[in-house]
Amino acid sequence: MKFFVDTADTADIKALASSGLLDGVTTNPSLIAKSGRKILDVVAEICALVPGPVSAEVAATDYDGMMREAAVLRKIAANVCVKLPLTPDGLRACKTLTGDGVMTNVTLCFSAAQALLAAKAGATFVSPFVGRLDDLGQDGMELIADIVQIYDNYPALTTEVLVASVRHPIHVVQAAKLGAHVATLPPNVLRMLYSHPLTDKGLAAFLKDWAATGQTIA
Ligand code: E4P
Repeated sequence: MKFFVDTADTADIKALASSGLLDGVTTNPSLIAKSGRKILDVVAEICALVPGPVSAEVAATDYDGMMREAAVLRKIAANVCVKLPLTPDGLRACKTLTGDGVMTNVTLCFSAAQALLAAKAGATFVSPFVGRLDDLGQDGMELIADIVQIYDNYPALTTEVLVASVRHPIHVVQAAKLGAHVATLPPNVLRMLYSHPLTDKGLAAFLKDWAATGQTIA
């Protein structure tokens, strides 16, 4: 499973990329606004930090506007993935951009039917938002199961399921068990994946016992 980080905070991205375990980055207009920076500057910096796909979202809602913005975004770097909303115009733009060899991420997916449309439009990634469905009292992970099953029925569909709106490590584990290709995680959730109190406790005990031997390895 690939791990993307869901942020426009370049200091955080730099720190997380040093692990060698980061496969890409997703941003959205809210995350760009939170960064307080210009989208072109921040996306260019992220693309230089992480060689994998970096999603940069259009702000236009009409096909021509999306295509104009996509032309600017794709010029930033070869690893820019143009993020488009799951609307008729967004899917039309997705189809055109995919035909042009541009990576695309169709976002704001909340149903299996929408995910099927995104795949038919040739999206590189589709982003179902599990946390926002959970927030409404629905089961976001059921949507992931449905999409994975549907895509598996049609091997010609190449769209990858990018689990978004992830709130905690259990979402990540459930998505991996279902066979989702990618999860995009807020930095705090990505860091939580490393943690277990028994790891900390076990390491402390090993270090104490090791110190008592008086040995060094290097
Ligand atoms: C990812 O592409 C989305 O922008 C993001 O995961 C949304 O997460 P949120 O529901 O926590 O805002």
